[in-house]
Amino acid sequence: MRTTDGSLVLGLHRSGHARDLLESAADLGITRLDTASNYLSHRSHEVLKTTAGDLLPRFSVSTKVGFFPEGHSLDPVRLHVAVEQAFKELGREPDLVFIHNPEHSAASAETLADACSALADAARVGLCRSWGVSTWDPRSLTDFDVPRPDVLMVRAGLLVGIDVLEAAEALAARWRPSQLWGMSPFGGSTAQNVWQRFDPRVFLRGSPPASGSQAAFRSSYALPRVAAVAVGTDNVDHLRELTEALAYEVDDNVVWEYRQLLKARQFT
Ligand SMILES: NC(=O)c1ccc[n+]([C@@H]2O[C@H](COP(=O)([O-])OP(=O)(O)OC[C@H]3O[C@@H](n4cnc5c(N)ncnc54)[C@H](OP(=O)(O)O)[C@@H]3O)[C@@H](O)[C@H]2O)c1
Repeated sequence: MRTTDGSLVLGLHRSGHARDLLESAADLGITRLDTASNYLSHRSHEVLKTTAGDLLPRFSVSTKVGFFPEGHSLDPVRLHVAVEQAFKELGREPDLVFIHNPEHSAASAETLADACSALADAARVGLCRSWGVSTWDPRSLTDFDVPRPDVLMVRAGLLVGIDVLEAAEALAARWRPSQLWGMSPFGGSTAQNVWQRFDPRVFLRGSPPASGSQAAFRSSYALPRVAAVAVGTDNVDHLRELTEALAYEVDDNVVWEYRQLLKARQFT
């Protein structure tokens, strides 16, 4: 069996949670799943347990709390209860629990720090193995200090604007997570027009026989530089293509030039 060394995280945001997809993922050497308490109409955890409970030990499972049916909240008590609930619904402790998009409700540094402490405490008492923060738009968080997270997850890839990219890097430098992960390398869809307008293969070193999707996915590990990327697909062929893309190398010079272009465009 091949392994992706945990660098490819199968994200379940848009997924139907089909058992055969999860079986194929395990067979392809994928070792990480990422979900959230609100995915699949707030049923992701229980559906994972019901349809693939026996497969779950083959994966490290991350989930997210803080997005409740009524909206986002960073109330430490609610977050603690949500982690307990995730444990119960999954039938095991999650390996990693993120605070989900705290930018929606982090009115102050103190609010966010208290929320992070609640997750750190949950990890300490064994409700989860580690904790982190997942943020779609970190720009409002860059002046906040929080306890050091195990993982910070941010948007990654060729569709991320320079302001969000730089804010994510600033946050990573300030919070010093043990790992930085990326997410949503296609910006949620490969059907958007933007993917027809340029060839992402220029970002790969040595002109390998890669598809555009493979090149876009592989490039996302460099924008910003991340240890793992959460990507979504319900298509086993697409998933295989993504795992194969990990063998390609990103051309750091092209990434550097691309960033200069983004930067220049920011001030026009
Ligand atoms: N704030 C947050 O915490 C947050 C926000 C967004 C995302 N995330 C995480 O990131 C994960 C991924 O995000 P996402 O699903 O929104 O966006 P994404 O990974 O950028 O895009 C997913 C789309 O790309 C398509 N795709 C994937 N591989 C492909 C391939 N090889 N060829 C052609 N199309 C391909 C999939 O279609 P097919 O199914 O047809 O392959 C799917 O519709 C989420 O599941 C979640 O874990 C977290």
